Amino acid sequence: MNDVAAIVLAAGAGTRLKSKKPKVAHEILGKPLVNWVVDAAKGAGIQKVVAVVGHEAEQVLPLVQDECETAEQPERLGTAHAVQCALESPALSGFEGSVVILSGDCPLITSETIKGLADARSESGAAAVVLTMRLDDPFGYGRIVREGFDLAEGAATGATVTRIVEQKDATPEEAGICECNSGFYCFDAKSLREALREIGTDNAQGEYYLTDAMAVLRSKGQKTVALESDDPEECLGVNSRKQLAEACRIKQMQINDALMDGGVTMIAPELVWCGPDVKIARDVTIHPNVTLIGDVQIGEDTTLLPATMLKNTRVGEGCTVGPNTRLYDTEVGNGCVVDETVAHEAVLEDAATSGPRAYLRPGAHLCEGAKAGTHVEIKKSVIGKGSKVPHLSYIGDTQMGEGVNIGAGSITCNYDGKNKHRTVIGDGTFIGSDTMMVAPVEIGDNVVVGAGSVITKNVPDNALAVARSREKIYDEWVIEHKK
Ligand code: UD1
Ligand code: CA
Repeated sequence: MNDVAAIVLAAGAGTRLKSKKPKVAHEILGKPLVNWVVDAAKGAGIQKVVAVVGHEAEQVLPLVQDECETAEQPERLGTAHAVQCALESPALSGFEGSVVILSGDCPLITSETIKGLADARSESGAAAVVLTMRLDDPFGYGRIVREGFDLAEGAATGATVTRIVEQKDATPEEAGICECNSGFYCFDAKSLREALREIGTDNAQGEYYLTDAMAVLRSKGQKTVALESDDPEECLGVNSRKQLAEACRIKQMQINDALMDGGVTMIAPELVWCGPDVKIARDVTIHPNVTLIGDVQIGEDTTLLPATMLKNTRVGEGCTVGPNTRLYDTEVGNGCVVDETVAHEAVLEDAATSGPRAYLRPGAHLCEGAKAGTHVEIKKSVIGKGSKVPHLSYIGDTQMGEGVNIGAGSITCNYDGKNKHRTVIGDGTFIGSDTMMVAPVEIGDNVVVGAGSVITKNVPDNALAVARSREKIYDEWVIEHKK
């Protein structure tokens, strides 16, 4: 759609949210409101999308500047003024064709509806098409006054929209109209520019209302029509925290419905939160209290257990993840069991296992079949193929070979108070329980280290290393001391 541009209004403060953060930066399932709208416009095939930023622009710009073009509204003088700022910006000056106007605070709008609006204008030849919805409780929205509207009878009979009246400016009769302005429009660019010049601020809020463009165009004898939405839900505006929660709930269920249609089992879908970029293969089972945000990918036949959170994460086939697990920027291979684990920027290759109660910090890499067991913390370390760190250990800055067994309570002492040092452990080595490996230190292949050792010197291949005082036995000592 080369002859259609979209303007996303995102300069408002969102006072009713009572937040330091601008409204459009608030998130639904990990994605800011404004990005839902920009993506919907791009999904409709519109190449030129311009977001208008203003209030706390430095917080909004980073969200959109790589996604679309931007224009600045230096002060908040109303929706008509915001549109004017976009039309006068380098992105749109001289643009002719259709201009779709979208509210940055209406994240549920779909690409199909946006396309429908643009099509409705080109098919009807109208100067303006406004998307409307009929609501049982229209309070707060602008009301659509159609031609033939009889104030006494309160009925709207004509198809033509004469004007839009805001809640704060409405007479009781007008307030009784249940057809509302969704805040989505498609205008002919030239007609819109002309109309904007005539819009004033003579209203309850002293603002330039975009909604007044309808009456201005009608007074010029131009065609202004309504396109009635068959799904008012997608026009929900987020003006309060309650509406933010409502929009989140609707999105959550839309995403979960699509995932279930794709072959994912959810025991309690209302207790599962997935972001828009999550990909889950068939026969995955998700138990309650699971959150998946970001670029999450999950392979076939995987089970996600309760109280689990995944962010920018990849999970292979046939895994069991959770319960009580948080994975951020983590890759999990096929056939892994990840139980009560917190992981950041970690990698688990196929058949690796972690937990219950493991903490995998950045750079933790469990090779195929490796294990990080109970109360184990691993940072910036490779745990070689089939190697096991089963209980109560800290492993940091370590290169561990294959088939290693680390006894319970063993620790790499990687920090001398000033610098971090590396530990190397060779293939097939057995570290006895409660061993302190004081880095920098290298322990060779096929080594055995006696339990309770403090290893400060390198150990060659195939050696036994014991670094502890010898046990002494004093026969009958207890009996004599009790006398
Ligand atoms: C607006 C409409 C109302 C409609 C409703 C639908 C107007 C005057 N009213 O009301 O008829 O029923 O949307 O959701 O248009 N914005 C700017 N700059 C400004 C003012 C606002 O960029 O100077 C942006 C806001 O960030 C927001 C959008 O425009 O994304 C709408 O503004 P908002 O104040 O939320 O308007 P509503 O009162 O919801
Ligand atoms: Ca709004």
